[in-house]
Amino acid sequence: MSLQLINQYQAKLERLIAYGGSRNETSVRAAFQDLLDRYAAAKSLALVTELEYKTTSGTTVRPDGTLKNAVRQDVGYWESKDERDDLDAEIALKFAKGYPDLNILFDDTQQVVLIQNGQEVGRAAMSDARLLNTLLEQFVGFETPFVRTFREAISHFQDDLPDLLEHLRGAIAAQAAENAGFREKRDRLLELVQKAINPHLNGADVREMVIQHLLTEEIFTSVFNDAQFHRENNVARELAGVTETFFKGSLRRDTLQRIRPYYAVIQQAAVNIADHHEKQQFLKIIYETFYKAYNPASADRLGIVYTPNEIVRFMVEAADHLTEKHFGKLLGDPGVNILDPATGTGTFITEIIEYLSKAQLEHKYVHELFCNEVALLPYYTANLNIEYTYQQKMGHYAEFENIALVDTLDNLNYVGATGQFGMFELTAENLERIRRQNEQQISVIIGNPPYNANQLNENDNNKNRPYPAIDERIKKTYVKESTAQKTKVYDMYARFLRWAGDRIGENGVVAYIVNRSFIDSRTFDGFRKVVAGEFSEIYVIDLGGDVRANPKLSGTKNNVFGIQTGVAMIFLVKKPQTEPARIFYARRPEMDTAKDKLEYLRTTPFQHIPFDHVRPDKLHSWINQSENDWDEFLPVATSETKATDRVREENAIFKLYSLGVSTNRDEWVYDLDEKTLKEKVKFFVNFHEGEKKRWLKEGKAVWTGKPNDKKELISDFVDRTIKWTNKLETNFVKGASLKFDEAKIKMLMYRPYLKQFYYADAALSDRLTINHFEMFGRSLKEDNEVISFSGTGSSKQFSILATDELSGLDLLEKTQCLPLYRYDKHENKLENITNWGLNQFRTHYGDDNITRQDIFHYVYGVLHNPAYRKKYELNLRREFPRIPFYEDFGRWTAWGQKLLELHLNFETVEPYPLPRTDSQNVKNPKAKLKADKAAGDIILDSETTLSGVPAAAWDYKLGNRSALEWVLERYKERTPKDKTVAEKFSTYRFADYKEDVIVLLGRVCAVSVATAAVVAEMGGSE
Ligand SMILES: C[S@@+](CC[C@H](N)C(=O)[O-])C[C@H]1O[C@@H](n2cnc3c(N)ncnc32)[C@H](O)[C@@H]1O
Repeated sequence: MSLQLINQYQAKLERLIAYGGSRNETSVRAAFQDLLDRYAAAKSLALVTELEYKTTSGTTVRPDGTLKNAVRQDVGYWESKDERDDLDAEIALKFAKGYPDLNILFDDTQQVVLIQNGQEVGRAAMSDARLLNTLLEQFVGFETPFVRTFREAISHFQDDLPDLLEHLRGAIAAQAAENAGFREKRDRLLELVQKAINPHLNGADVREMVIQHLLTEEIFTSVFNDAQFHRENNVARELAGVTETFFKGSLRRDTLQRIRPYYAVIQQAAVNIADHHEKQQFLKIIYETFYKAYNPASADRLGIVYTPNEIVRFMVEAADHLTEKHFGKLLGDPGVNILDPATGTGTFITEIIEYLSKAQLEHKYVHELFCNEVALLPYYTANLNIEYTYQQKMGHYAEFENIALVDTLDNLNYVGATGQFGMFELTAENLERIRRQNEQQISVIIGNPPYNANQLNENDNNKNRPYPAIDERIKKTYVKESTAQKTKVYDMYARFLRWAGDRIGENGVVAYIVNRSFIDSRTFDGFRKVVAGEFSEIYVIDLGGDVRANPKLSGTKNNVFGIQTGVAMIFLVKKPQTEPARIFYARRPEMDTAKDKLEYLRTTPFQHIPFDHVRPDKLHSWINQSENDWDEFLPVATSETKATDRVREENAIFKLYSLGVSTNRDEWVYDLDEKTLKEKVKFFVNFHEGEKKRWLKEGKAVWTGKPNDKKELISDFVDRTIKWTNKLETNFVKGASLKFDEAKIKMLMYRPYLKQFYYADAALSDRLTINHFEMFGRSLKEDNEVISFSGTGSSKQFSILATDELSGLDLLEKTQCLPLYRYDKHENKLENITNWGLNQFRTHYGDDNITRQDIFHYVYGVLHNPAYRKKYELNLRREFPRIPFYEDFGRWTAWGQKLLELHLNFETVEPYPLPRTDSQNVKNPKAKLKADKAAGDIILDSETTLSGVPAAAWDYKLGNRSALEWVLERYKERTPKDKTVAEKFSTYRFADYKEDVIVLLGRVCAVSVATAAVVAEMGGSE
């Protein structure tokens, strides 16, 4: 890989020379710099050009490049000379000037010389690729003793932190018991933070704030050598009032003794960083590292991650451009009020301070620049960063009085707001700050709100808190205008968008960087419609990086935040208007790295971005628009048809449809082995009942009697040995009991061609609803045939599969089910194809003999048609299928019937002959379950291989795996993710199922080959 880089560099150099570039320093330096950059990136280092370096004699020199690690420490230097220079003489000259000699690389376009610890360790001609590679590796691989000490200290600190926190929490608990002064101050603070930040905060939260205060005081003093901030800030003063009551004597001495060694190293590192931008960068990383070690769950919930500088600068410039274009005013002009509602470490505000001229700054800083933060640690960090940047620029310190510790989404009491909401306080001054902010007409809202969407796992106990007022606004706007089947737009970033849309008033600009899903997600159709009505211009820069939608991407490599969720910038311009917004969209290439994207933003001003003018289609899509004859086809299912009691209101082929079963604890309630399943469920049930008893005995006593409070207490109280979900906790609050019942064990189609035992208890499954009982009767075992298909919003290719059992939600992607029959509450078997559907077909084909069963087959046939799937690919991602009338009804019905029979009977079909080879004398064969498609082999384990799989078999795919690969995947041996299941019930061994799997693979191979043949027959016909 590296040699390849060098070859590319050499070729580039030759081109440069051939095309007239003289061999002087500047024309070829860029090529070598690029090479160094790539070597550095491979070690997560960055090459920063022209940074100042303070020599030991106190003078300043400027190496051409400084190699920095993630915490902005110098790890090497680079100096480039002209080929006409005498390199050795130049090196001597540089050292005489005080250049560092710890790790420095010199080049003169002909050769490189590497000096480490004052000694030359190597020299290579540029033409000697191998030697050059060795030297460059040695250069970027060097670790100065200090960098090593620092790395080790931080890693020890991260390891020690939990212990230290325990120690402090214990000390505070003791104070709570014996120190009345402490209790009084603490309770007062609790009352204040409940009002200012969140009414659900409790004593434990205050305790954490106190701890954060203690620990950060030391960090900030170390890094910025400045305790002034902690003395002067109003919130810090309030917290200091609490800490002063107990943080003294031996407790203070012991704690400081424990943290001092670490902080001394941090301090030393900070002292070594001369450039003040680099120093701020250092602080942000220390802060992020610290927060993630201190409380990873809350770091995730609040979106504790700083915004890269390239993005911040780009957005500030863009906002400046837009305010000038639309309102004739620049950001620096008086009267332009700017607010960052989720300021984190304060990057947007500090960037604005840097961006404005000195002459404009003072007025802006005092009167027109605002920001909010809800968490104490970033609040402190932001305050410090902002005041420090101001001081650097203006040459004097001035307190920044416009940062408030407040939950922005609760802060609805601003000028022009219609609702009446409670006022906040924390300190009188914080209240005053919020009041001052709320009095302003805000012209620019800019920032990076938290991206955290729905919590993935209840056991993480990391819920976003409810925001009734904002959520109501979302309901009345984005949700009301949405046609999505299920609308989930209560994510934090959607709330911040809603809040900004309301806060900005009549004229202004909102500039956010957020989760990109508002651009094309189905559930955001209402949002797209509403913002197009509320704003006059909308610009979107899609930075991609959605790893879930494109597994070829990597979060760390391709995403500008290093996360899995796609990212976009949105700029919304608000003006009094009658026309819908003009919408502009630009995107960066899908496979661009984060570095490419940041470089693009660094070098391309907003005005030069090549935006496409987008005209939304009728589904309010901004991209991937689908204009075709889709709307003329018959919908398979609609929510109106499902809900109505009146036959004449039906307008879809099927009456009932349903999502598959979802449990949110699959590893507990599914198993290939019935006995293991019973043991697991019994354990779960007993444990749950034990927790109930424990709650009655120990937990309930601390409950104050408020219903909300109870849920939260229980969430904190229960032992998470078993998997808790919101639903289970809610039932627990109501006092519900669980009881094991063997009759609840059913069969369920869990993945394509894989049935499993399932414990069908609604209390233990997030979604086992009346719909599922309507499909399979009260016993869940009645006769039915069901077409399952991948539901809206799926990221993979559309797929379907017929089943005669319940389907799991992940059978296909977001599985939806269309049954042939349904069962009413008296267990009567009813037709599920509507009269409306039947009439449509009979009328269209002029044939009264068409039956519902024919239609069922026809639908199944058409939905397998490759031409249909290709043409309507986008529609199928966004909506339920619609069914066209093809010319030859009989042929499509016959194909559908043939496929249906094949798929429903996969367990009895004659297996395809797959010759088996067994190696001799293999003891305890190791499971592999791998496909070698090219060879047509299936390697089951280290002993057995099946061969002769025809190429056509792999073509039968459901999503992005073939049917055979689904089977192989599911039978692999893996450690369950759930800790308890892994520890107590991980009994699965492939060897126990091997012979059954061989037969199943033969069968699925036969089904695949036959399916591929039918699909091939369909060809492109309609
Ligand atoms: C993605 S970070 C902001 C990054 C920031 N631009 C920076 O570079 O540091 C989001 C910040 O919003 C804060 N936050 C989350 N919810 C908030 C709320 N409801 N009100 C105010 N701030 C909030 C978080 O604590 C976090 O610091």
